[in-house]
Amino acid sequence: MIEQLAATKRLTRARCDEAMAFIVQQIDRNLETFVDTFPSECSTNQVYQQVGNVAWTPGFWTGMLWLTFEVTGDEKYRLAAENQLPSYRQRVDEKRYTETHDLGFLYTLSCVSAYKLTGNEEAKLLALEAADLLYERYLEKAGIIQAWGNLKDPKQQGRMIIDCLMNLPLLYWASEVTGDSKYYDAAASHVRQSAKYLIREDASSFHTYYMDTETGEPKYGRTAQGYADDSCWSRGQAWGIYGFPLSYRYTEDVELIELTTKLANYFLDRLPEDLVCYWDLIFTSGQEERDSSAAAIAVCGLLETAKCLPLTDPTRRRYENAALSILDSLITHYMAQDVPASNGILLHAVYGKPMGSGIDECCIWGDYYFYEALVRVTRDWKPYW
Ligand code: GLY
Repeated sequence: MIEQLAATKRLTRARCDEAMAFIVQQIDRNLETFVDTFPSECSTNQVYQQVGNVAWTPGFWTGMLWLTFEVTGDEKYRLAAENQLPSYRQRVDEKRYTETHDLGFLYTLSCVSAYKLTGNEEAKLLALEAADLLYERYLEKAGIIQAWGNLKDPKQQGRMIIDCLMNLPLLYWASEVTGDSKYYDAAASHVRQSAKYLIREDASSFHTYYMDTETGEPKYGRTAQGYADDSCWSRGQAWGIYGFPLSYRYTEDVELIELTTKLANYFLDRLPEDLVCYWDLIFTSGQEERDSSAAAIAVCGLLETAKCLPLTDPTRRRYENAALSILDSLITHYMAQDVPASNGILLHAVYGKPMGSGIDECCIWGDYYFYEALVRVTRDWKPYW
């Protein structure tokens, strides 16, 4: 695709290759460090620390190892990724930190990827175990997957969040490989409920939404990481822009693509001059921090959405151009190569501004999606999702 658009864009194949060379350099720099450990969710002073397989984010590191195996063909990255499988085994076997919908992020990028790329049977079984645990979080009456915490915790009960759209591919995949439609049905229900309740009339999104688990009735939207309950958290909108078309790939429900175009337009209409969003879309100028990770996720989502539109639809070309322009800005202004002390890839992300965490730092998922975006535009890449 990059060749097609090169005539009108500064973003050439050579610039993408240079950016990927820097990424591989950073992966190599981290390769001996994050062997039995993983990079922390976000950096401290632009440096990731070593943590165990506990948070929602280890899969992004393992996923980057798989991407690097694909990009370079070098077996050392495959071995490094496979070397981490026991850690993912321990997590599902011992059910450590598994009361979360994030099992999708975790096991899609570490194990479904391994299975799809190399046919690794152990990875397939681990991903299926994770899919079973994720399926247990499906609340029949409400038709949703509960995002966080114990299913009986009154603070979290019946709460869905927009991020969960990225966890649904694990369920669709589980139905494909087992032939059991229950995973697909849960995911298809969850995506419908997300479209109905998490997306507002103006195509902005709630971060989280509570459903009544007894009656199945909708209750109310609340933010967790956004500026306010009625604002639009940028990364949440980006999860929607990427998550809905991923469900479309499995369900072929065209309404999901129609909805995604509305979300995408809302997002694109609120970008500042350098095209990298502030951490909440309520801000379109000023001194608030950017969230480069949301920008990277949106690039992947715009590219995925464009693929779902007819070749003749002008919106298809508009989204491709928008994706490439945002990516160009990330390469030009947000990469960490001018910060030699940093072991990260993409600077200027925000994890959780209201909680004061990871503000203007590297975030490991920002690194991952930036890398995935580059792989998407330079290759005919088959998603792990
Ligand atoms: N899924 C968690 C986050 O986006 O911060």
